[in-house]
Amino acid sequence: MMKLLLRHLLSTTLFIAGTVFAGGDYIRPPPRKTLSFPWDQKPSSQPQQVHISLAGDKHMRVTWVTNDGASPSIVEYGTSPEKYSATAQGESTKYSYLLYSSGKIHHTVIGPLQENTTYFYKCGGEGPEFQLKTPPSKFPVTFAVAGDLGQTGWTKSTLDHIDQCKYDVHLLPGDLSYADYLQHRWDTFGQLVQPLASSRPWMVTQGNHEKESIPFLKDGFVSYNSRWKMPFEESGSASNLYYSFDVAGVHFVMLGSYTPYDEYSDQYSWLKADLLKVDRRRTPWLVVLFHVPWYNSNRAHQGEGDDMMSSMEHLLYAAGVDIVFTGHVHAYERTKRVYNGKSDRCGAVHITIGDGGNREGLAHWYKQPPPEWSVFREASFGHGELKMVNSTHAYWSWHRNEDDESVQSDQVWLTSLIGSGCNTGGGSHDMRRILMAS
Ligand SMILES: [Fe+2]
Repeated sequence: MMKLLLRHLLSTTLFIAGTVFAGGDYIRPPPRKTLSFPWDQKPSSQPQQVHISLAGDKHMRVTWVTNDGASPSIVEYGTSPEKYSATAQGESTKYSYLLYSSGKIHHTVIGPLQENTTYFYKCGGEGPEFQLKTPPSKFPVTFAVAGDLGQTGWTKSTLDHIDQCKYDVHLLPGDLSYADYLQHRWDTFGQLVQPLASSRPWMVTQGNHEKESIPFLKDGFVSYNSRWKMPFEESGSASNLYYSFDVAGVHFVMLGSYTPYDEYSDQYSWLKADLLKVDRRRTPWLVVLFHVPWYNSNRAHQGEGDDMMSSMEHLLYAAGVDIVFTGHVHAYERTKRVYNGKSDRCGAVHITIGDGGNREGLAHWYKQPPPEWSVFREASFGHGELKMVNSTHAYWSWHRNEDDESVQSDQVWLTSLIGSGCNTGGGSHDMRRILMAS
């Protein structure tokens, strides 16, 4: 009885304060501490922080770090354990940041690779063997989605839950390590995500925590660009901060919320050109990721995405984008199809999923009443799973971290804009006219 009374009092207080705590009786746990990483003395030529990413058609980029500057950037790989039928030579880089000097960061592209196949590989001729699985080239295909990860107890919980799901590619809409100028935290983040990121491609875009610029001393994104090289050259972009790639029948566009996006910017021109190349017969789904949400009814980070939205939303609308994933706000929110600030059957579904588990904790406060376009919102840590079943249907689910259990809390069938009568013409005359006019 006392418990019921307390719960009633709590919910009344929260209602008056203007907060929405969706999820019924779920009592939200507090932030968890940043993980501590024991000193792990490995031979200096041993590969560390191994992760993989897609690098153009049938190719994968393997990235790792060694403390030994003489260690070669080679990857040996094949489809049987410890039998390597191919070797690829890559490149390396390093950077310094105030008193910190990075290890040797190796980037080596392997391929051509067969679809939906397990490969075994070794980096730099040393250390343990890793294995990866390439994505399928046809539907169905599944994506894990989690932004604003950090490296806390909650991050670990989220990663464990993602590890339990069968997925092909991880999508991360910004804010990776929360290193925040302390460069060794990039190394511990690499160590934390290695078990997952060495086995499935991680496709990331950058958030504010990747900037790490210091006026007159350091440009932005030095660590991020050195460590998380994405296929920008492969997609005709001049910057690692925006690029695109295809998986099965999905075209993904990754944008930068912190790089110029006005109509005279390189990013804007590249986006227009990239959208004009989309062929919806080949990639019926069109999905965009960036960090700062455009549709957000949480009180955190209100209006921060407005400028980018007013510059670029009409391009996404003209191209018939199906889904937009963002992060930044440490909570979950899903909208109806929207455009220009209101529901629109030809607009994109926007999903904010900045709830990976970072040390800053959750964003609890919501605007009241909810806007008409907001369908589901909740401040909990968790991750999402997007299963593209075929060219027209996808199943989206959001999984809340309920203590250390993963509980499916929001789910919906999404239908693509193909055949909807909306603009999905890719390079067609109609679409070209709209995009060229903008
Ligand atoms: Fe952020």
